[in-house]
Amino acid sequence: MSKDFSLRTLLSATALNPAEAKILMAYILEKYYKLPRSALLSQDELELNEQALNEWKSLESKRLLGEPIAYLIGKRGFYNIELYIAPGVLIPRPETELLVEVGLQEINRLNAPAKILDLGTGSGAIALAIAHEAPQAIVTATDQSHEALEIAKANAKQLKVADQVQFFQGSWYTALQAGTTFDVILSNPPYIDSQDPHLKQGDLRFEPLSALTDHQNGLSCLEMIISEAKQHLNPNGLIAVEHGFDQSDAVVALMKLAGLSNIQTHLDLAGHYRVASGRK
Ligand SMILES: C[S@@+](CC[C@H](N)C(=O)[O-])C[C@H]1O[C@@H](n2cnc3c(N)ncnc32)[C@H](O)[C@@H]1O
Repeated sequence: MSKDFSLRTLLSATALNPAEAKILMAYILEKYYKLPRSALLSQDELELNEQALNEWKSLESKRLLGEPIAYLIGKRGFYNIELYIAPGVLIPRPETELLVEVGLQEINRLNAPAKILDLGTGSGAIALAIAHEAPQAIVTATDQSHEALEIAKANAKQLKVADQVQFFQGSWYTALQAGTTFDVILSNPPYIDSQDPHLKQGDLRFEPLSALTDHQNGLSCLEMIISEAKQHLNPNGLIAVEHGFDQSDAVVALMKLAGLSNIQTHLDLAGHYRVASGRK
């Protein structure tokens, strides 16, 4: 008796969470059959061929072992763009869209071609969402990781904003040419305390440690970025950083210590202060 490898049967038999199973199956349908996600319903009697079935089984078992969906399908939606994602970069998080919003608000307020810096760009998420949304912005993106920069550059090309974004490798501001200043500095640096047990759980186990933690108490990269911001900002320029849900007071204190003015805290959709900004 032949086995039933139809979409309907495979999806109902899997031990995966149903929403995640559908994302993985939609990826298979697109890759092997050039079919849209809607085929999950409209063609649920389709039997997977051997190659597609083998890939489905492989993705299913990797996901059951905890590998993040974005690494398995090689992409993640962020703000208004889709990014190519691979192990070696942080998977962009929805909460980081708040930092993009704060940056875009400032770009709109300036009403002139603004110079934007994204420190620790990873996949390019912040820099490329801004470049895509604000074609007049002149964007610089840095990262210490060569691997991350290669992925960010590939994303810039794919999104057709490569002419608008310059990439530099190095630790925070040392990546920049001396004397370069910006209207807006944005950063989502590693801010998880090295002792935080979450680092050993869920998707985080598969992401680069250097993108998640500063290997100290979580505040050292934020401190470095904030304390030197004034040297790299134009007059009245804005710096905005993402931080952990319990780091708002500490980050505001760092901004005060750095002599920034008009310090503001910004709430994410879950009601947590996750972004702080200040001006030169
Ligand atoms: C939390 S991830 C953010 C990635 C991306 N901006 C995002 O929001 O999805 C932090 C990034 O900072 C980079 N990074 C860590 N230490 C750095 C350093 N000393 N200088 C520059 N970048 C660094 C990591 O490689 C990583 O890409």
